[in-house]
Amino acid sequence: MKATAKAHTNIALIKYWGKRNEAIILPTNNSLSLTLDGYYTTTTVEFDESLSQDQFMLDEQIASGEQYSRVTAFLDIIRQMAGKQLFANVTSVNEVPTAAGFASSASGFAALAAAGSKAIGLHLSEKELSRLTRRGSGSACRSIYGGFAEWEMGMREDGEDSYAIPIAPANYWDIRVAAVVLSATKKSVSSRAGMRRTVETSPFFQGWLDSISYDLAEIKQGIKARDFQKVGEIAEANCMKMHATTLGAKPPFTYWHDTTLVVMQKVWEMRSQGIPVYFTIDAGPNVKVLYLPEHEAYIEQTLRELQGVTDIRLSKSGQGITYI
Ligand code: DP6
Repeated sequence: MKATAKAHTNIALIKYWGKRNEAIILPTNNSLSLTLDGYYTTTTVEFDESLSQDQFMLDEQIASGEQYSRVTAFLDIIRQMAGKQLFANVTSVNEVPTAAGFASSASGFAALAAAGSKAIGLHLSEKELSRLTRRGSGSACRSIYGGFAEWEMGMREDGEDSYAIPIAPANYWDIRVAAVVLSATKKSVSSRAGMRRTVETSPFFQGWLDSISYDLAEIKQGIKARDFQKVGEIAEANCMKMHATTLGAKPPFTYWHDTTLVVMQKVWEMRSQGIPVYFTIDAGPNVKVLYLPEHEAYIEQTLRELQGVTDIRLSKSGQGITYI
């Protein structure tokens, strides 16, 4: 009744932004991501008859509060699926630098779903595992796969058709991602709250939704043709549209800091000099810069010299779920 799984985080090139059902996490649009090498969570789950409640150790500390309740709520789903009333010992170790603005919830819930479902004796396909993972955190359902993955929003109200599918494996294309770490990184609005406020109040939200099918079709064509310029242009434009919805919310908000803009402008400047480089930004101030290996040294050095930038973390396409 014990299993260990490892899952990597992912970065969305077409963003998941908006829910149609918050209780079981159903999105308002499809999204598409790249799973990242080097940033992962390793989780061990052991169901044990002698336990009277769940235990959760995160990075060698006993977890409590919201972290604990999200994990037990997720284990409840696994218990219900298996029809077993057993509590579990959960131990998670994150290799995801939160300062770089990568979401540890994506790798965290993917690893928990994989280890938990295996430990309790469920034999889930990747599709079923992705659908389960979605219930913990939406973006996590894409981390089941390496490389590029698409989360199909589905149409059903019970969420049975809402899960991620693989688009291209990690070794398909060597795309690089540099996470630019900024000195001021405190996050003010969580992605969950920001999404909700945007859906409920932003007049730009409909425009965002209307643009998704074009962006998705184009980026998939770009991936298929390994056309970096096309993939980069679409990813960057999609990111700008997502962030534009927050400016129209009531009250308005933005995840950007002053240095966020400095990095964005530097990327545009490098591009005007003929270097194929693009960016994307999630629900935080850090910028993720996309480029091909041959430009890595120059781009890294250029970004490091910017004021307000404290570190650059390099990554590339990574693997899906593995069991240890
Ligand atoms: C901006 O997956 O963290 O990173 O489903 O409420 O847990 P919940 O939200 P979460 O939202 C991620 C939003 C995003 C875009 C993306 O990853 O697609």
